[in-house]
Amino acid sequence: MYDLKKFTIKDEPIILGLESSCDETAAAVIKGRKLLSSRIISSAAEQAKYGGVVPEIASRAHTEAVDEVVRQALDDAGVTLSQLDAVAVTYGAGLLGALLVGLSFAKSLAYSLNIPLIAVNHIRGHLAASYLTDENLKPPFVTLLASGGHTAILHTKSYTKFEMLASTCDDAAGEAFDKVARVLGLEYPGGVNVERLAKNGKNCVTLPKCLVKNSDKVQFSYSGLKTAVINYCHIAEQRGEEVIKEDVARSFQCAAVDPLVKKTVESAVKLKVNCVTAGGGVIANGYLRETLAAECERAGIKLVLPEKKYCTDNAAMIAAEGLIQYLEGNFAPLDINAKAQIPL
Ligand code: KG4
Ligand code: ZN
Repeated sequence: MYDLKKFTIKDEPIILGLESSCDETAAAVIKGRKLLSSRIISSAAEQAKYGGVVPEIASRAHTEAVDEVVRQALDDAGVTLSQLDAVAVTYGAGLLGALLVGLSFAKSLAYSLNIPLIAVNHIRGHLAASYLTDENLKPPFVTLLASGGHTAILHTKSYTKFEMLASTCDDAAGEAFDKVARVLGLEYPGGVNVERLAKNGKNCVTLPKCLVKNSDKVQFSYSGLKTAVINYCHIAEQRGEEVIKEDVARSFQCAAVDPLVKKTVESAVKLKVNCVTAGGGVIANGYLRETLAAECERAGIKLVLPEKKYCTDNAAMIAAEGLIQYLEGNFAPLDINAKAQIPL
């Protein structure tokens, strides 16, 4: 019988991670901090036909893929269901119907195997991805979070305590990449396509900075930057002038990324924290990775970045955060519900 109080905590548990908050159905297995396998079945190609994620298509695709992706992850890891010590699953934030597929699957596994269920906050998963890069990484550090829904700089004080140092007052960085991709006629998913185009462009279009200062608190604002790109393209079109899309992509990428890098390193220096980590889909951006690495090196700060494939949505990061919650004994009841929105 599933009883939260009866589970014992092992030092090096084998945890299955599950992720289904958006358009990736993902499963991964870790043993302690060591990643044994990570698999993703994505419905992005199907979603691309509609120019973005259609929630109903995402939910159906998860239903079709979840069984298979878990089997693949277990096979790759050489682990059987009976060897699992816990199952960690994203319960929010995300698309409700999509989340429910992974959560229901994880609940059934936890119940039938009589192992703890760990409910993982998707964003905490992104923050935990760096632990997969460096098995000995320990807080404190300063973390740059940049995804499709969030943009923030955090002081990660311990595995579970975070202080928000800066955040966006409107759109997230990833959202701006996606909208600019659309204006430039690029396919979904947008961010990576803007990066591809930017490789052949010059930073020569004048765009507003995405940094605003409200009193003494730093805030990012992507809405003005996105509108400036839209206006630039429309005005050029009305005048019959050619828009060099590569230059727009490059200029936007610099305007979107440079302040994130600058403020992250400045925050670490100010707090005298000598390690920076990062997480979220935008951290897969090559220009961001290069400039952050260069600035950290210049400031004498250690940088720990997740591999690109663990920046965008995946289950390895959910398993990594699952381990943190497992060691805290933070197990979930089987009647826990999925949540479209949850705070960090
Ligand atoms: O973390 P993520 O996979 O999903 C959320 O939790 O939101 O982030 C997705 C976001 C999208 O907005 C996507 O355009 C952006 O990350 N992204 C990128 C790149 N790869 C993904 N943005 C810029 N450059 C990239 N290479
Ligand atoms: Zn994500």
